[in-house]
Amino acid sequence: MIYRRSGRSGLLLPALSVGLWHNFGGDSPSDENRAIIRRAFERGVTHFDLANNYGPPYGSAETNFGQMLRTELAGHRDELVISSKAGWDMWPGPYGDWGSRKYLRASLDQSLARLGLEYVDIFYHHRPDPDTPLEETMGALASAVQQGKALYVGVSQYEPDRTAAAAAILDSMGVRLLIHQPVYSIFNRWIEPELLGALEKHGVGCIAFSPLANGQLTSRYLGGLPQGSRASRDRTLADTVERNLPRIKKLNEIATRRGQALSQMALAWALRDPRVTSAIIGVSSVRQLDENLAALDNLAFSSEELKAIDEVAPASTGSGS
Ligand SMILES: NC(=O)c1ccc[n+]([C@@H]2O[C@H](COP(=O)([O-])OP(=O)(O)OC[C@H]3O[C@@H](n4cnc5c(N)ncnc54)[C@H](OP(=O)(O)O)[C@@H]3O)[C@@H](O)[C@H]2O)c1
Repeated sequence: MIYRRSGRSGLLLPALSVGLWHNFGGDSPSDENRAIIRRAFERGVTHFDLANNYGPPYGSAETNFGQMLRTELAGHRDELVISSKAGWDMWPGPYGDWGSRKYLRASLDQSLARLGLEYVDIFYHHRPDPDTPLEETMGALASAVQQGKALYVGVSQYEPDRTAAAAAILDSMGVRLLIHQPVYSIFNRWIEPELLGALEKHGVGCIAFSPLANGQLTSRYLGGLPQGSRASRDRTLADTVERNLPRIKKLNEIATRRGQALSQMALAWALRDPRVTSAIIGVSSVRQLDENLAALDNLAFSSEELKAIDEVAPASTGSGS
């Protein structure tokens, strides 16, 4: 494993982290879930990313990960960086969504109870809230640190200006913004023009989510729509895959010329800028995990390869919303 520093902080993160948004819900962890977590940790993946509403049902990914912390990962708490988030809809009524102090505090307490932890390593505000004053949301994150319920805090999907403002407010409260979690992949390059520069300026790390564009930047859909795949359960994603297939095939040819699987090239590409601290992958099998971790064997790109990728997916592609 390669470890990279998150901005100007003391925290090192694995270049590849594992997220539990999909495939980890339900009543209890599946055998495959357990094997994935065990294998990831054995291979040096020290960071696992969660959120209050990962499942389905909401909360179940945290409950299941909590179980695995007491079995597969027992005794390893201090070798792990565990994150959670609040900001999307979690429970009914006006106090289970967005960015109020009321919501964030209750949600973090619930996440800790599901995980069976006294603290998470990183607590995120999951998405910008246009209506709640930023001071209130950042104040709730700062309180989580001051109460010892989170060691560090982050934001997700915040625009560059809002990120700079969030960092300044947190600074004024004596808490540093550790990290930003944006969507970033060959198919969505919105962070390149401004956000990465703003993060560097403020000493904030960057952890890219959905670096495989929900599985599009892999071999998953090269031969159709396999049963059980994410796109087989999500009509919108299936339509996107169909539209992107010619580009996916071209990228696959570039990857083959590099001697990599498409997923490996896509992950190496997301990590090519040292300001990207880590990329969070989702996986539904140990086989996928192993394939993806082998991306780290070749992170170098020639200028011809980068140009060929730019021709398929120009730098202006994608948006943060
Ligand atoms: N902050 C936010 O708002 C936000 C939003 C989204 C995600 N996230 C975080 O980012 C994490 C990753 O997101 P993501 O799951 O969308 O990431 P992703 O890595 O872009 O997509 C993961 C999916 O790609 C497929 N895949 C992965 N490796 C493969 C391989 N080697 N060969 C074939 N298919 C492969 C699998 O699909 P199948 O399931 O079909 O096998 C897997 O579930 C989440 O778990 C979460 O922690 C955060």
